[in-house]
Amino acid sequence: MNIRRRKFDALIIGAGGGGLRAALQLARADAQVAVVSKVFPTRSHTVAAQGGVNAALANVTPDNWHWHMYDTVKGSDWLGDQDAIEYMCRAAPRAVYELEHFGVPFSRLADGHIYQRAFGGQSRNFGGEQATRTCAAADRTGHAILHSLYQQNIRARTHFFDEYFAIDLVCDGEGAVLGAVAMEIETGEPILIEAKTTLLATGGAGQLFRTTTNALINTGDGMAMALRAGIPLQDMEFFQFHPTGIAGKGMLITEGVRGEGGYLINADGERFMERYAPNAKDLASRDVVSRAIAIEVREGRGCGPARDHVLLKLDHLGPDVILKRLPGIRDLAMTFLHIDPIEQPIPVYPTAHYTMGGIPTNRFGQVVVPEMQSPEEAVEGLYAAGECACVSVHGANRLGGNSLLDILVFGRAAANHIIAYLKDHRYHRPLNEESVDRALARLARWDEPGDGERVEDIRAELKKVMETHCGVFREQTVLAEGVEKVKALAERMQDVRLRDTSKTFNTARVEAMELENLIDIALATVQSALARTESRGAHSRIDYPERDDQNWMKHSLYFRDGTLDYKPVRIKPLTVESFPPKVRVY
Ligand code: FUM
Repeated sequence: MNIRRRKFDALIIGAGGGGLRAALQLARADAQVAVVSKVFPTRSHTVAAQGGVNAALANVTPDNWHWHMYDTVKGSDWLGDQDAIEYMCRAAPRAVYELEHFGVPFSRLADGHIYQRAFGGQSRNFGGEQATRTCAAADRTGHAILHSLYQQNIRARTHFFDEYFAIDLVCDGEGAVLGAVAMEIETGEPILIEAKTTLLATGGAGQLFRTTTNALINTGDGMAMALRAGIPLQDMEFFQFHPTGIAGKGMLITEGVRGEGGYLINADGERFMERYAPNAKDLASRDVVSRAIAIEVREGRGCGPARDHVLLKLDHLGPDVILKRLPGIRDLAMTFLHIDPIEQPIPVYPTAHYTMGGIPTNRFGQVVVPEMQSPEEAVEGLYAAGECACVSVHGANRLGGNSLLDILVFGRAAANHIIAYLKDHRYHRPLNEESVDRALARLARWDEPGDGERVEDIRAELKKVMETHCGVFREQTVLAEGVEKVKALAERMQDVRLRDTSKTFNTARVEAMELENLIDIALATVQSALARTESRGAHSRIDYPERDDQNWMKHSLYFRDGTLDYKPVRIKPLTVESFPPKVRVY
């Protein structure tokens, strides 16, 4: 088909922190780089990150990267790959100083150093006292980072395709990825962007759930594109529920509140985290705190008329701390609850927050499939970074503050690998035009009007099913029912039609394709969860309450045909001794 065509050295799909950090590295190395984003770049979900980015700068308390590494391995419940974790924690201080030089307006200590706050799961000296490792720009750190990266990219002349929706990857006859077909949302016109390398940086899939901190755009598009290209998704059963979403609504109230000294209470006014995590208390890791809240509510100690939430108390911090360090969450509480946290506690409940699984990569950002474990054997031309990827530094439970770090470190690492690759691959290869036709057919489906099922109905049901059948606590029968229900929705999706397509705005087409993506990701999540018969990190099985290292210290790999495979955890770090698995207490 005759469509608009453009050619670049590197195509980046997604304009959050991972995509923009990679784009900047590439543009500064004089690569021709294009970024495709379905929203204006500074509306990407990184903008919503509040509390900060972890780096062992030791500005407030003693710290070093090795302690950070230990905390991350423990936080991951020993499912994280220790080589990638070592790499990330070592790279963290440099990543933050780079940001400082890009112009990120970090909050400051009295001595002028970058402000750092305590976050969950952080310790000194391999499990000792609380560490203070999260570098913050008040409680709008993601906003500050995303805007600075965007401005630096404009300066470096990165080419942006703003408000273009990526439909599918295109390839050559041998499986090398050579770019993607996208749709310009304003006009509905398709465009083929050919590239010697393609980086997926499309973020997570929080829209799987009804109550979530995630923006409407977080529909797992890159992960679904990878699945359709025959690539499995890794560790999809591990979905993080953030302990403190605004109750019933889901918006994020940063862990930074607890880092600044806020704490959770139940209906009896009890600071209940003391029972669940005697040392770390409210700063235990997120899976632990989320489960504790769910148990308090389940056992009747919830607050409010429906006893369905707990309270996050911060009024004792005083107006100075709240106005200076937590102005964003005060705005959120006032806007959505008409509550001023300077005076009143905030009602909170766990909310879907972060996709720990994703497209399997190595620490150079290359996408690796099961039989390809060495860098030389990766899927040619394809990279992934950030929440859509699984490198795996978060394992079964991500520590707060490590996601901004992940996007910076692995966005940069992927770009560096691409730069080296481009030196040896100077010419565009011929495309397999069939892969272009397949992508265009996906788009064409949404030009045919009809009276079938409606996108909004299926989407609403999907979110309810996922919340009911794949939430904080899981169990065989409930998960198995969840699988059947998602499969039934996938069937019904075949009958979804847009009504009068001549009058339909293209956002309706985008929403339909996003829903197709979400259904694939939902199947990956619930089927991987059903198969894992142990409890580890965020995957908490009532029927299998213990971690089972003997049988389950392995990554799952879900393929689009519904089959599952497994691969070992990489427990050998790069330069230091492994942290062997032990009982995880906080
Ligand atoms: O609580 C927060 O500010 C979230 C941080 C994160 O998910 O890393």
